[in-house]
Amino acid sequence: MLSYPASAVSTPDGQVNVLQITDLHLSPPVFTDKNTGGKNDSAVAICQRSFEAIIKQALSEERRCDLILVTGDLVNQVQVEVYDHIFEVLQATGIPFACIAGNHDVTDENNSELPFFQRELVARPADTRLLNRHVIETDHWQLLLLDSSMTGKVEGEVTTADIDWLCEQLEACAKPALIALHHHVIPVDSDWIDQHMVENADIFWQRLAAFEHLKVIISGHTHQEQVRHRQGVTVYSTPSTCYQFKPFEDDFAYDKSALPGYRWLQLANNGEVASWVERLDT
Ligand SMILES: [Fe+2]
Ligand SMILES: [Fe+2]
Repeated sequence: MLSYPASAVSTPDGQVNVLQITDLHLSPPVFTDKNTGGKNDSAVAICQRSFEAIIKQALSEERRCDLILVTGDLVNQVQVEVYDHIFEVLQATGIPFACIAGNHDVTDENNSELPFFQRELVARPADTRLLNRHVIETDHWQLLLLDSSMTGKVEGEVTTADIDWLCEQLEACAKPALIALHHHVIPVDSDWIDQHMVENADIFWQRLAAFEHLKVIISGHTHQEQVRHRQGVTVYSTPSTCYQFKPFEDDFAYDKSALPGYRWLQLANNGEVASWVERLDT
């Protein structure tokens, strides 16, 4: 059985192909009978089906997948059986993987039928399988996974201790580096979600400016594809495996025209990165 979490990845050619999936938002009940899930068109069934279809589609591509990173909001309601299901699906791939928490992994939103800002937020303990301050070493890269979630809150935080930890890892290893966290560290120009990004992003960027070998940051949370550049770092935002938010809207809005998606990152031996988003085939 595959050991969890992935902490070292080595490949024949040294290049690492990372599959990022994010914002699965699965809820109970978990459908174990494929027919039941297949015919049920509730939001719960749609998100579960979409997550499993994304895994199947991504891994049926000709590209070798060396690592799966799951960047938070695995669930919509914190229930152990939902995590059990997600981990079973990921274990069955036989590919090393690692998961970090998003806001929904530590906070239940009650009254989800109400407008976003009127919902009741209930703090929940994170599932012990979700990682914080976790390092994955590869032949030519160092991957740093951070938990940016705050219990009972939608917004995120990278604490001073987190930044100290990042700096220590970057000082100790000269390989090109990637940071993965749930909340975005650079605004996506959508007011409502930018109010819920990493709170102390300015300090984060100030402290990390010293490290030229920090090449890539990936996050979820925004449910949309974006690419931005800051201080020589390429910052990727990735669509949800289920539903998308409308880009550049100041008020909460779904993007009903955008399909579920996932991101590939090809981490080359020389520190270069190729990355793109794929959408679920309809
Ligand atoms: Fe999300
Ligand atoms: Fe989120």
